[in-house]
Amino acid sequence: MKRNRILLVVALVLIYWWFFTGNDDSSLNKAYAPAIFIYFCQYLEELVIGNEAKVPKADYKLKGLAIAFRHGERSPLIENGVLPDCTAYHDVDRRSFSDYESLTEQVEFTQFLQVDPYFKKVELAPQRSKCSIGNLTAEGALQLVKLGDFLRTQYVESGVLDASTVVDFQVSPYRRTFQSAVAFASSFFFPLRQLYPEIILQAAKTTYFCNEDNCTCPQIEGLRKVFHQDFQERSAIYIRRYPDLSTELQAFAKASKMAPFKHPLEFIDVVLGQYACRRQPLPCFEGKCISTEGIAEASEAVSSLVREVFSLSKPLRTLYAVESYPILNSVANTIAEIRKDRTSKRVNIFSGHDITLMPLEFTLGLNITAFPPPYASRLVFEVYEKTDQTTSDVDWLFLRVLYNGVDHTTNLSFCKTFVDGLCPANAFEKFARSEMLPTFSGEASVSAICEREKRSNI
Ligand SMILES: *[C@@H]1O[C@H](CO)[C@@H](O)[C@H](O)[C@H]1NC(C)=O
Ligand SMILES: *[C@@H]1O[C@H](CO)[C@@H](O)[C@H](O)[C@H]1NC(C)=O
Ligand SMILES: *[C@@H]1O[C@H](CO)[C@@H](O)[C@H](O)[C@H]1NC(C)=O
Ligand SMILES: *[C@@H]1O[C@H](CO)[C@@H](O)[C@H](O)[C@H]1NC(C)=O
Repeated sequence: MKRNRILLVVALVLIYWWFFTGNDDSSLNKAYAPAIFIYFCQYLEELVIGNEAKVPKADYKLKGLAIAFRHGERSPLIENGVLPDCTAYHDVDRRSFSDYESLTEQVEFTQFLQVDPYFKKVELAPQRSKCSIGNLTAEGALQLVKLGDFLRTQYVESGVLDASTVVDFQVSPYRRTFQSAVAFASSFFFPLRQLYPEIILQAAKTTYFCNEDNCTCPQIEGLRKVFHQDFQERSAIYIRRYPDLSTELQAFAKASKMAPFKHPLEFIDVVLGQYACRRQPLPCFEGKCISTEGIAEASEAVSSLVREVFSLSKPLRTLYAVESYPILNSVANTIAEIRKDRTSKRVNIFSGHDITLMPLEFTLGLNITAFPPPYASRLVFEVYEKTDQTTSDVDWLFLRVLYNGVDHTTNLSFCKTFVDGLCPANAFEKFARSEMLPTFSGEASVSAICEREKRSNI
């Protein structure tokens, strides 16, 4: 059975570190946390750092900005025993959350924040202490408050945030992305309410921000299923690389009493959302405890599996191309807008998921090695105008791309020349409009992909 195969992979990963690490370091209730958890959990005591808005020279002006972020910490998506308490861990964060809750109840804030009718029934802030499957935690909301605050201070002097700037804030249709968007808006836009008397949170239709009929079709869901099949086949190949361990797999899977995972990433998800990020002791089975080193290895194994499947699975590449298209297209639209009217400025915010960021990371060719993207991860597109152009310049608009504060511009797959470390915007427009879909899907448009998939299903 296919599900069994997936379980085998998960179990394999578990077994692998169980045997090869043998460390009983299961308590996280100490002053420091292991690097892997600091990375994945984004604990609130860690500072947000990043090079957003940091361009090498003063003669670049920021005209366009797109920020796609993952929601903050949430409980696991799958049921696995009793969930821990979700109260913020540190006193200072409990107080911050109380302050945040009060803010969301203020009339000034609720008038400032215009909410799409789709979200009308959703509370602005998550529960203070109750964990529930797939829901944002109090710390998760605070992560986005912290991120919005950091990015506002980075961008406030950049020139892109003024009263004429067109702001478009889209939110994927989930409670956790909505509450994350509210948190981000409270610290990024609300302090600038003199410039922006109101911010509208619009509900997107999909996790990849396709809101029109021309960027998706029912066949795309079919692609997702094919990808899962491919993934399972690749998982089988993956298992064969560890032949010595295969006999132990079934036994361990049974002992671990984990819910059946549909995808190895779900294992990581449970370990983080239920234990590591809640600072709970890691679980033990028959005297053997999950170790932090083990989780690091599991994450590494999962990451290399994802990378391998992307290079081998055409359905996944096609799916990722389709899912990258709306955000890339919107950045290209921003660039086109500025070309038409030099004075225009745009800010696009996308409140999404790890599965929003991952397709973009792959299609842009960023060298990201750790998956999934941690909570509150951000992918940022900055569009700059060069103010002292010379006739030899390849373009007068430039793109800069950052992931979690790290400048990845020089690794953009489609960019062959760079000016002051920036990518000429016309290279990006060409990629986004006419190269990306053919390169990864073999078709020129989403509708052609849909036609192909229809034919292949007959
Ligand atoms: C998430 O939280 C809301 C209330 O904040 C609750 O209505 C909903 O049932 C929760 N989701 C789950 C899966 O428990
Ligand atoms: C899809 O339609 C929207 C609205 O009509 C338009 O802005 C967008 O550029 C279209 N996208 C494609 C790929 O044609
Ligand atoms: C990707 O990044 C890793 C470190 O994160 C580095 O070791 C590796 O050389 C990089 N590879 C490429 C092709 O840039
Ligand atoms: C970009 O690629 C180079 C190698 O081509 C690598 O050394 C560098 O680490 C990459 N940058 C990032 C941010 O991964």
